[in-house]
Amino acid sequence: MLTGKIIGLGSYLPPKILTNDDLSKIVDTNDEWITERTGIKRRHIADAVEDKASTMACKAALAAIEDAGISGSEIDLIVAASTTPDVVFPSIACCVQGAVGADGCACFDVNSACPGFIAAYNTAQSYIESGNAKTVLVLGAECLTNFVDWEDRGTCILFGDGAGAAVLRAEEGMKNSFIMKASMNRGACLHCEAMKQPKRVDEEGFLKSTFMYMQGREVFRFVVTEVPALIDELSKKYEFDLGEVDHFVFHQANRRIIEATAKKLGVSLEKFPMNIQDTGNTSSASIPILLTQMKKEGKLKKGDKIVMSSFGGGLTWGANYFEY
Ligand SMILES: CC(C)(COP(=O)(O)OP(=O)(O)OC[C@H]1O[C@@H](n2cnc3c(N)ncnc32)[C@H](O)[C@@H]1OP(=O)(O)O)[C@@H](O)C(=O)NCCC(=O)NCCS
Repeated sequence: MLTGKIIGLGSYLPPKILTNDDLSKIVDTNDEWITERTGIKRRHIADAVEDKASTMACKAALAAIEDAGISGSEIDLIVAASTTPDVVFPSIACCVQGAVGADGCACFDVNSACPGFIAAYNTAQSYIESGNAKTVLVLGAECLTNFVDWEDRGTCILFGDGAGAAVLRAEEGMKNSFIMKASMNRGACLHCEAMKQPKRVDEEGFLKSTFMYMQGREVFRFVVTEVPALIDELSKKYEFDLGEVDHFVFHQANRRIIEATAKKLGVSLEKFPMNIQDTGNTSSASIPILLTQMKKEGKLKKGDKIVMSSFGGGLTWGANYFEY
């Protein structure tokens, strides 16, 4: 059957780096605590003027298109995932369209918090597999540090900025199989309720609601329970053995979450690539940034079987299984 194969990958990470030692000068924390609890050593921080979710998306998109060796005019759909867009409208996808010379193609954004890239990828695959698109650009772009409370050591240590992109092209191959879930009933432990509005800053509690709020332990428990169960459900529903999977490309949120998931699934940690030490949690951008790094390091081979999985605010969680 026709399915989308990844023919190009690209990413953009802003040049400014914030180390754990830098953070220890802002909040009461230290490198040892952050490294031990999260695996993060440093993260890239967007420049307040130069870098926005939309501009970082454009840079990642151009890199992915160059890697694919195609021209922008060949693209017939752009789907961008972001929870932290700098534009209300046009969408980030439209901004990217302008930058890559894909005038006339369909463009829209999705917001599914950290699993946004998987939601965008599955949407792109559904367009391709139903014959509605041949070449699709899929993106994740985030500027989370704009929404972080820099006085809250429980959250500000976790996040970083960046963007990643993949070009998919219709080819004969194995179908993309996926399951996506959400549970607003359990969403109170992770949210960012309001966008900043100049005239509402004086309203009681308003400014606080513009920052990300997180109960870390609750989120941790949710992830290490639901994500392994979802991967198990995915493998049963689509009848594949976890032993056949070459790479488990997971959302980079916390090294301990990945270790606990690998253990629960009974899969070697070696099959879980990680770059969280250098990026922190970049939400929907984390998976395409990691895929790009894997490709550059020669770790992706045509035919490799990949499970991607992510989780985040909503609460949302999802996973898919496909052939590279
Ligand atoms: C946030 C997280 C790293 C905290 O680790 P934890 O082991 O759960 O730590 P706790 O929140 O229970 O806090 C333990 C102690 O460390 C302290 N602490 C919290 N942040 C700290 C920091 N940055 N530096 C030093 N101490 C810190 C707490 O105040 C607490 O102190 P106390 O015992 O005196 O009250 C962890 O819960 C986590 O990663 N959760 C998942 C979050 C996530 O991935 N979110 C995004 C999903 S997309």
